[in-house]
Amino acid sequence: MKLKSTRIHFVALFCLCLNLTAFAQPKMTRLEDLGNQIFNDRALSEPRGTSCADCHVAKLGFAGNNGSTIGVAKGSKPTSLGGRNAMSNAYTDFIPSFHFRVEGEDVDAVGGFFWDGRSDTAQQQALGPFLNPLEMNNKDGAAVLQKIATSPYAKQFKDEFGPKIFSNPTLAFQKVGEAIAAFEKTPDLQAFSSKYDQFIQGRAKLAPPELNGMKIFMDANKGNCASCHTMNPNSANPKDSLFSDFAFYATGIPRNKAIPRNANPSFFDLGLCGPDRTRPALSSNVPASVSIEDFCGRFRMVSLRNSAEKNAFMHNGVFSNLRDVVSFYATRNSNPKRWYGPQGIPNDLPLAYQRNIVNDRVPFNRPASSGPALSEREIDDVVAFLKTLSDAPQGQPPRPNPMPGVLNNPFGPK
Ligand code: HEC
Ligand code: HEC
Repeated sequence: MKLKSTRIHFVALFCLCLNLTAFAQPKMTRLEDLGNQIFNDRALSEPRGTSCADCHVAKLGFAGNNGSTIGVAKGSKPTSLGGRNAMSNAYTDFIPSFHFRVEGEDVDAVGGFFWDGRSDTAQQQALGPFLNPLEMNNKDGAAVLQKIATSPYAKQFKDEFGPKIFSNPTLAFQKVGEAIAAFEKTPDLQAFSSKYDQFIQGRAKLAPPELNGMKIFMDANKGNCASCHTMNPNSANPKDSLFSDFAFYATGIPRNKAIPRNANPSFFDLGLCGPDRTRPALSSNVPASVSIEDFCGRFRMVSLRNSAEKNAFMHNGVFSNLRDVVSFYATRNSNPKRWYGPQGIPNDLPLAYQRNIVNDRVPFNRPASSGPALSEREIDDVVAFLKTLSDAPQGQPPRPNPMPGVLNNPFGPK
């Protein structure tokens, strides 16, 4: 008896060590480490005090709005409130550059960084926040470089980019973008260490509500979430389950009245049609019957990885908890007054663009008389499933601890 239990302990300890070593993070390269330091440096705002990491907090799903509670980000000046909810900066290596995708009758805008796809690369994106008056508020790239030149990592910057790099601020600013982009590609930000990832690899079991939530998420007649938030539990490769194909949709999200620019009733954030970007030109593969007006009010879909950790959802941050998001999908059509007020019509797009709101696919194609697309219990289960998409806290082994031999993935490797 004694002997047997020692053996079990030994085996358990052995497995634990194996896990810890297998998932220890590889050391960063000098370039990645520079990006990490710049990303976390609170001296790089005007006034000082706000770093990229203040709006992209690992524990808040790599988002968070720098302490603002109204769903949109607060900048380095406490009175500066932006117009949009911070996005996650994790898993951004998988965002394709902006393009129009034509498949039969379907023409979709896809890709690009930001809710409106206005930036094509992580390098280019990373330079925006430094100069945005509502975010880090620097006057120009040279002002940022001056601060980096006196930072604790100034020498490392010169070692990486050459001893004269600070005498060419334009080039040096580009290098800042490259360093941040390299950091964003490291496993720290793309860990694939969620319970779902363990599950598709046959190393963890989902609890019954989580499994039921996943079925509803995938069921074309129920949630139909996976028709947009793409996934493939048949593949053990987590990259086949990014939970977004980065296409743009208008889903009829309610107006967030707390956003300062929304105080003007005739102001509308039209996503692809501005005002935070110029309208993109249609590419030559787009049929002549389609116009850019068909895309006004559309925003880029995000990955749902780590979204359960966030405290604000959607481009305008109008929802502050995940259950409300799923309830919105379930009851937008059956109970529009709950979301839009007494008139019951979408209130964050001008009438002319309401035709762009998705109404031709589940769960958005049901008449009000059919009732909610999901029951309260089903909503809870979808929320439970979404929580399985959160990565393990940084530096820790994947969650949950792998349970070899326990398999209940009906879609997974047989
Ligand atoms: C004051 C808050 C704030 C700060 C500081 C901030 N961001 Fe953001 N971030 C946002 C908001 C808000 C968005 C969405 C903006 C939009 O769509 O117009 C965003 C979007 C992004 C995205 C796009 C993700 C995607 O899926 O397209 C990345 C990447 C990102 N930020 C990285 C950074 C980096 C790098 C820095 C520092 C140089 C930074 N952010 C500083 C608030 C912030
Ligand atoms: C027609 C495509 C489509 C379908 C179907 C769809 N979504 Fe989405 N989802 C989007 C888009 C687009 C956004 C971003 C919208 C915005 O902010 O304007 C989004 C945003 C979200 C967010 C917020 C993410 C964040 O970080 O702010 C969650 C959570 C979410 N969807 C869950 C679901 C669930 C659960 C279902 C099924 C019940 C579902 N979605 C069905 C397109 C879709």
